[in-house]
Amino acid sequence: MASTARTQVAIIGAGPAGLMLSHLLHRAGIHSIVIDGRSRDAIEQTIRAGILENGTVDLLTSADVSQRVLAEGHRHDGIELRFEGTGHRIDFADLVGRAVWLYPQHEVLKDLIAARLRDGGEVRFESTATEIMDADSDAPRVIGTGADGHLLKITADFVIGADGSQSIARETVTGSRTGGHFREYPFAWFGILTEAPPSAPELIYSASPHGFALISQRSDTVQRMYLQCDPELDPASMSDPEIWDALQTRVGGGLIEGPIFQRDVLRFRSFVAHRLRRGRAFLVGDAAHTVPPTGAKGLNLAVADVLLLSGALQSFYETGSEAHLDAYPERALDRIWRAQHFSWWMTSMLHAAPDATEFDLQRRFGELHSVTSSRAGRTYLAEAYTGWPLATF
Ligand code: PHB
Repeated sequence: MASTARTQVAIIGAGPAGLMLSHLLHRAGIHSIVIDGRSRDAIEQTIRAGILENGTVDLLTSADVSQRVLAEGHRHDGIELRFEGTGHRIDFADLVGRAVWLYPQHEVLKDLIAARLRDGGEVRFESTATEIMDADSDAPRVIGTGADGHLLKITADFVIGADGSQSIARETVTGSRTGGHFREYPFAWFGILTEAPPSAPELIYSASPHGFALISQRSDTVQRMYLQCDPELDPASMSDPEIWDALQTRVGGGLIEGPIFQRDVLRFRSFVAHRLRRGRAFLVGDAAHTVPPTGAKGLNLAVADVLLLSGALQSFYETGSEAHLDAYPERALDRIWRAQHFSWWMTSMLHAAPDATEFDLQRRFGELHSVTSSRAGRTYLAEAYTGWPLATF
């Protein structure tokens, strides 16, 4: 028993990109169906990064997705770069008059799902897309399997691949699952969650001779911390005391320790798909690009993509013109490549590769000194970290 559905915009993936796009389209009177192979619980429980740019917070609040971000999120007016035993504050408020919010991605997802269901949106969980057909026609289709295990066919005017770094839509748009510009890094982050109060008021990015460490937060009682590690590290291979010892050494001590209740290894990749559009199929978010986590850009870049694409779709439905849809790839890529550069730059400035020479090490510290000791250097970092103005059509 196959089930069929018809919508204006079929969206594959109920992550931040897919749900936000569906929400923005709804506000413009455009119908969409979102499908995702995961359950609602799995989506709401997966722990991911936690930093929202100023513009992302403005959009969540002004588009009536979340007031909770302001009440329960924490505004951060700066970060600390720590190296050679000294902390250097990047004062966002003073440098650019902007801030970021610490509000974990799964909280954003809970808000987005609640908003979609409140507004009568159609989100089909546990429904897996396997293929996009007829992307070059004006009635593309998503073929997959519904929650009941039966064949599912959704016919739409447009299909959007918001299906993350393992995207199936990427194959339709670029011709292969991996079609794009790609860079892998010879290190990763070992991330932990610990039950403890915050060790510092703001995030600490620390470059030490023993490797990089990031001290981040999740709430008043749960903290997120990362250690630079080998990409092949088995998260179970380090004991709690070994992890605390490594973290304390890399930040120069002072961390409040607690029980560690989650460990994972994050690979570092930079990726930009060769194409973001084929006919009536488009890529957004991680399906279109991946950044290493150092710049905290992943979710924010996804939101920037969908704000742009929702405007282009809205203009198509209002005027029949594809001009803005045609312009979407170039406009989106402008921000994507700036964010790629920033994420790569923060990553290479703060991490030593395993084969780094003494020259490489000293050059990195030269760079850290130039950035932190000059207002222009700090301002560039603050502008990029808090987020460039969001583009719209
Ligand atoms: C996090 O809290 O998970 C986090 C924060 C800042 C980053 C990356 C990850 O740059």
